[in-house]
Amino acid sequence: TLPSSPPLLYPTWYAPEPSKIFNNLSLPKGFKFGVATAAYQVEGAAKSEGKGPTVWDWGPRQPGVVADGTNGDIVDLQYFLYKEDTARVAALGVTDHSFSISWARIFPFGVKGSPLNQEGLDHYSDLIDYSNSLGVNPVVTLFHWDLPLANAAYYGGFTSPKIVDDYINYATTVFKAFNGRVKTWYTFNEPHVYCGQAAGYPFNSQLASGVNASTAMYQCAYNLLKAHAGAVKAFRAMNISGEIAYKNDGQVGTPWRANTTEDAEAVERSAAFGIGLFSNPVYVNGDWHELVKQTIPASYLPRFTEEEMRDIKGSADFFAIDAYTSQFIAAPSNGISACVANMSDPNWPACNVLYEYDSNFGWPAGNAADPGSTWLTATPLTLRYALKQIQQRWPTKKIYISEYGFSEPFEGQRTDLFRILDDTDRTNYFMTYLGEAMLAIHEDGIPLAGAFSWAMVDNAEWNSGLSTRFGIQYVNYTTLERTYKRSAMALSEFFKSHL
Ligand code: NOJ
Repeated sequence: TLPSSPPLLYPTWYAPEPSKIFNNLSLPKGFKFGVATAAYQVEGAAKSEGKGPTVWDWGPRQPGVVADGTNGDIVDLQYFLYKEDTARVAALGVTDHSFSISWARIFPFGVKGSPLNQEGLDHYSDLIDYSNSLGVNPVVTLFHWDLPLANAAYYGGFTSPKIVDDYINYATTVFKAFNGRVKTWYTFNEPHVYCGQAAGYPFNSQLASGVNASTAMYQCAYNLLKAHAGAVKAFRAMNISGEIAYKNDGQVGTPWRANTTEDAEAVERSAAFGIGLFSNPVYVNGDWHELVKQTIPASYLPRFTEEEMRDIKGSADFFAIDAYTSQFIAAPSNGISACVANMSDPNWPACNVLYEYDSNFGWPAGNAADPGSTWLTATPLTLRYALKQIQQRWPTKKIYISEYGFSEPFEGQRTDLFRILDDTDRTNYFMTYLGEAMLAIHEDGIPLAGAFSWAMVDNAEWNSGLSTRFGIQYVNYTTLERTYKRSAMALSEFFKSHL
């Protein structure tokens, strides 16, 4: 029988006194005090300046797709308010803004050979120049899930090999346009979440014939890795300046029972099918992890050719992780566990994730009546462990926490602006997280070089809509006015006193 609660590795949260957290320690030179956004989630202007429709313009219009019935048509209108938004974070001392480019603003019809929309390219050019002029480095993600509707409709998006050339065509257009003005690039945001859920097969499949829900995730993984590797190959061949990688998601779980081989093995399987699905090919050997190959037949998961493996291996200059949640994993009682995302085949046993600790938005469920009730369980508890695991399995010279953040779904229901702005839980989360990050750097020797808060402003949280708020700034969706929350001020103070 299993103990009823997981091991608590770091049970104390730091008091929110930003300047006093390990005030004898400082962050490495050049450490990035980042904030993050994504095009669909903040831009609005969904039909402006020649943009084509994306799956995320279409999906939220279908019944039941977004919990609160909202969509991304306007949200923060950052497409037009980017100067204000950039200036507001520059004033906090932010050094980097990680944002995504919407493919459909550059190629409204998505595919190679279709017309380029110069207005869209000019917009991002302005954003990049303005950011640089205020000393905020633009960090560009080429794909953060808002696939042009055309690619989905023609051939099922990333489930088709046709996506590879279309993506590379788009990526190289952007590289050429912004070469020298952007120093850090990501090809893809969270491929595991994307291929597993966010690609939106349930609603894509109504459009695209030939999308088979049981194989879609693995075809997507295969095509996406080829698109990633092809874009990086082009990036290097074109001699584009700067560094490039993709943003990993997920976590290496913590064994529920320390010192049991079963739980340790379950963790290995989960790592192989989780982060490892993409990072084993990219950071280890160009190929799927052995466990993955043993478990998933080639009819589900295509195998790479020698040449593809050569291109995929080493196709990232650093490791980026969106580190939100902590998992505790125990071996299932029947002893057989493949840790496969079992959406793909109900006969494949999933691994036993007993608890996934999230920064509120998930399990254990946040209690709206008592917003503090889940704060003990968020990510900083296992951050150092997770970073060590990453560095052991997929070693690199540099790691970024490409996103970390805290949602307060109940904020959407709060009417008391003061309580929304005095976001103590989020502030404690960020301070604890950064304290642990400092220890990871100084005690564990982790080459952590930056951390990007999700999010710069409240925004459209995909299927959860506008009422789930992740921002360090509050956005009034009627007036579009922004207000710093306490967490924004705390982050500013923390970085001022440690950078
Ligand atoms: C990571 C995703 O990249 C981002 O789009 C999302 O809003 C946050 N997680 C929070 O769920």
